[in-house]
Amino acid sequence: MTVHERGQWSSKIGFIFAAAGSAIGLGNIWRFPYVTGQNGGAAFVFVYLLCVLVIGLPYLYAELALGRAMQKNPAGAISAIKPGSPWICIGGLGIVTGLFILSYYAVIAGWTFGYIFKMVVPNQMEFDEFVSQPILVVGLFAIFIFITVIVVYGGVQGGIERWAKILMPVLFVLLLVLIIYANFLSGSSKGLAFYLKPDFSKITGKVVLAALGQAFFSLSLGMGLMVTYGSYISKEDNLITSGFYVAMADTAIAIMAGLIIFPALFAMGQDPAAGPGLVFQVLPAIFRNMPGGILVGVIFFILLSIAALTSTISLLEVPTAYLVDEKRIVRKVAVWVVGGLTFLLGLPSALSQGAVAWLSKPIAGNMEFLSLMDFLWGNISLALGAFLLSIFVGWIWGAKYAAKELARGNPGFAKWARLWGFLIRFVVPIFIFIILLNLFKVF
Ligand code: PHE
Repeated sequence: MTVHERGQWSSKIGFIFAAAGSAIGLGNIWRFPYVTGQNGGAAFVFVYLLCVLVIGLPYLYAELALGRAMQKNPAGAISAIKPGSPWICIGGLGIVTGLFILSYYAVIAGWTFGYIFKMVVPNQMEFDEFVSQPILVVGLFAIFIFITVIVVYGGVQGGIERWAKILMPVLFVLLLVLIIYANFLSGSSKGLAFYLKPDFSKITGKVVLAALGQAFFSLSLGMGLMVTYGSYISKEDNLITSGFYVAMADTAIAIMAGLIIFPALFAMGQDPAAGPGLVFQVLPAIFRNMPGGILVGVIFFILLSIAALTSTISLLEVPTAYLVDEKRIVRKVAVWVVGGLTFLLGLPSALSQGAVAWLSKPIAGNMEFLSLMDFLWGNISLALGAFLLSIFVGWIWGAKYAAKELARGNPGFAKWARLWGFLIRFVVPIFIFIILLNLFKVF
C-alpha cells in the first residue's frame, strides 16, 4: 500500500490487511487481558463483546463512510462538509490522541521487543526488575520509535503489510497451540471460569466504561484513523463486509489471548488484577516450563513486535499526514518531527514502572503514570472522539449520505440503512455520553 500521495489500496484485501494490521496489536494481547483482569473477568468480556457489536461496528462504518466519501483525512473531511466550523476540532483531538497513544504504546512495544532477547538469556530477570531499568526501557522505547519512523519514512509499509499477511496467520496458529497448552495445566479450569462464566453483579459503570474504551482502542476507533484508511478504499469495494472482517479478526485475537492468559494465570496462582505487566509476567512463565518453550517464546515475541509495529505505523501516520496535508511540511521532515515529539512525550511513561519513584506511584485514580496515560488517551479521549464524530456523521453530515456511501458496493445495505442510521444518531452517542459520566467515579 502507499499512503504517500492520496493512493488507493491495491485491492480489497489490501485494505482489510492494513486496517486489521492497525487494529490487531498490543491492544489485543497486552491490553485486553490486563483490563479484563482488573475488571472482574467474564462479565467484562460480555460487556466488551456487546460494545464491539452495538457501538464499535456501527461506528467503524461511520468513520469508513466519511473517509471514502470525502477522500480526505479527518480534519479535511470535516471541513469539506462544514468549512470553518468548530467541528474541525475533532480532527485536532484525533491527532493529539494519536500522539499520546503512540507515546506509551511504543514503550510497551519496546518491552515486547526486549523480550525477544530476554527469552534466550538463561539468567532471567523478573518483569518488575526489567521494567525498572531506566537505560534499558528508554533504549528499547527509542529503538521501537526509530523502527516505526524508518518504516514510515522509507515508505516501505507495503513490505511490512506483505510480511504481516504471512505472519499474522502464524500468530493465529501459535495462539491456538498456546490455548491448548495453557488449558491442560492443572488448576487452569478456574481461570477459564473467571474468564467465561459471567457474574453479572460485577457490572458497574466503571466496568462498562473500561469495556467501551477497550472496544474503541482495539478497533483503532475514535481518532479518525479509519477515516484516513477509508479514504484509500476504492469506490467499488464493499465497506460493510470489509469492516466486518476487520472487527471480527480483531475480536477473535483478543478472545484467544484471554483463553491463554487466564487459565495459565490461575494455574500459576497469580493475581488477575496485576495491571499492565500481566502478560509479561504470565507468558514467559508458560514458555519457560513448556517443552521447546524458549523457541516458542522467541517466535511469539517476534510476531507480537510485528503486530505492534503495524499499529505504531498507523498511529504515526495520523499526525504525520496532518503535517503534510495541512501544514505543507515535507513528509520526511514531518515523520522525524512526530517521532521525536513522541519520544519526549513517552519518556515519563517509560520511566513510570519503577525507574523513577514519583512517576511509578499512583498519581490519580490509583494509576501510575503509564496507566493514567492509557486511561486518559486510550480510553476517555477515544470515547470522546467517537461521541463527537458520531454526532457529526449522524446529524451534521447526515446519516442518509453516510448510508448512501455504505450502500455503494453493497446494495443489500439499503435494507439496513434505517437501523444503522438509528444506531449512529441515537444509540451510539447517547450510550457513550452516559458511560462517560462514570469518569467522575474513577477519580
Ligand atoms: N488498535 C491498536 C491495538 O489494538 C491500537 C491503536 C489504537 C492503533 C488507536 C491505532 C489507533 O493494538
